[in-house]
Amino acid sequence: MGLKEEIKKRRTFGIVSHPDAGKTTLTEKLLLFGGAIQEAGAVKSNKIKKSATSDWMDIERQRGISVATSVMAFDYSNHKINILDTPGHKDFAEDTYRTLTVVDSVIIVIDGAKGVEEQTKKLMEVCRMRKTPVIVFINKMDRPSRDSFDLLDEIESQLQIKVNPLSWPIGSGQSFKGVYNIYEKKLMLFGANEKLTEDNSIEFHDVNDSGIEEYIGNSANQLRDDLNIISEVYPSFSLEEYRNAIVAPVFFGSALNNFGVKELLDCFIEIAPQPLPKQSDTRLVDPFEDTFSGIVFKIHANMDPKHRDRIAFVKVVSGKFLRNFNYLHVRQNRMMKFSSPTAFMASKKSIIDIAFPGDIVGLHDTGNFKIGDTLTEGEIMNFKGIPTFSPELFKYVVNTDPMKSKQLAKGLEQLTDEGVAQLFTGQLSSRKIIGTVGALQFEVIQFRLLHEYGASCIFEPIQLYKTCWIKSSDKKALEDFKIRKIQNMAFDKDKRDLFLADSPYALQIAQEKFPKIEFYFTSEF
Ligand code: G4P
Repeated sequence: MGLKEEIKKRRTFGIVSHPDAGKTTLTEKLLLFGGAIQEAGAVKSNKIKKSATSDWMDIERQRGISVATSVMAFDYSNHKINILDTPGHKDFAEDTYRTLTVVDSVIIVIDGAKGVEEQTKKLMEVCRMRKTPVIVFINKMDRPSRDSFDLLDEIESQLQIKVNPLSWPIGSGQSFKGVYNIYEKKLMLFGANEKLTEDNSIEFHDVNDSGIEEYIGNSANQLRDDLNIISEVYPSFSLEEYRNAIVAPVFFGSALNNFGVKELLDCFIEIAPQPLPKQSDTRLVDPFEDTFSGIVFKIHANMDPKHRDRIAFVKVVSGKFLRNFNYLHVRQNRMMKFSSPTAFMASKKSIIDIAFPGDIVGLHDTGNFKIGDTLTEGEIMNFKGIPTFSPELFKYVVNTDPMKSKQLAKGLEQLTDEGVAQLFTGQLSSRKIIGTVGALQFEVIQFRLLHEYGASCIFEPIQLYKTCWIKSSDKKALEDFKIRKIQNMAFDKDKRDLFLADSPYALQIAQEKFPKIEFYFTSEF
């Protein structure tokens, strides 16, 4: 099969949800369809217990699981599907955001009883920023759920995207009878279908056909009314609008009961985009180009703390990736060869000789890679699009073992390369500041510094609200701002200037007093 065909059959996507909405369950069912796993329960939930008692042991366990489940690839109906897993725990949200920068589309899972939740909104923001096409799966319809029209309205208003239901539920909870597949004009009768053998679908091209009553009784009238409203309110599905992230198709079902999942998957492979072109700092790179290029979007530490080696996850953007071939590590300006690149099939890892655009390759790394690094066949370019966001929590790092300051510096450098947290350095004080999305990361850093680098540290509080990357077209104004605010200036790891705002008020004042300065909460602007 040529490069073209290989690309066309690939679908690389992420499943996201607020914790507990059913992401893990849905992932598992998709893998069952792909034959990648044989039984339910084979995919361990890639999430730390959601209780506040998450401790280091949970994190260790999570690390073990998440390498295996970082990428789950399977074949289905002549397609190669790559699901990129994202951590469920909100403290690891940054990791999720980064993964979302390399997917070509996303499935958002929403709990039908709860509707749009906090984490879903944040994740959608990232999708919106990147114009990633999304499909919504409203889950747990076997439980009493909210009114379906209300749910659609809520998705439109809270996630700020137009919706288009491609299936429609008939009741919910005890009275859940099934869904009507609007896309294929089929009635799907509800029943747990773990074995995937039974076909519960009945074709009904015309819901006015009185035969439908036989299956769903007097719910038929309600269904007809609902479908009438749908056809009036929601224009027919437009592939172009979906691909342009203007409209999100919506499916209803129950992942746990494997209900509505096959319809989702069948529609997904039909409409979801194949690997897309990606922008670099010099040009737009097309997947169909002959020469290889790829981007590192995730780095995972080895489970064995005695070995500091890691796995760098590379998404192939264009051309073919070949084992034992020389590639240019653009940032380090040196050629590298990989003798044991791995691919991930469900929970198994195996060495591969070739990979195509859309595929994820795991490269053994001894500390050469940073998130965002580009590999090419020699071309000097860097892929854009792995932004860092202003962290939410900040602490000073204090070295408690002066004999080990080198180890501490190295550990901090490498852990933050991995994306565990962000590292800033005060411009005046030279003090190191760690910024994270959640409190758990501080625990992770302290533990790993000690166990992997032999360095010990404590954290001290710092009054900080946000880090802002700054820019101005007026050079003099920028210099003036930096001098006047030197106490609040820091560098990020790339030596870029950052303004540290102590409070929302301090930020507001700075914005008012220095109108020529632009303040950004993400590193990419
Ligand atoms: P997450 O990855 O999004 O955090 O959610 P996960 O799949 O772990 O699902 C969270 C809980 O919701 C699980 O129950 C799961 O069994 C349940 N669930 C998922 N889909 C459905 C559905 O369609 N219907 C119903 N009724 N429940 C569903 P749990 O008790 O927290 O975990 P477990 O002990 O079952 O693993």
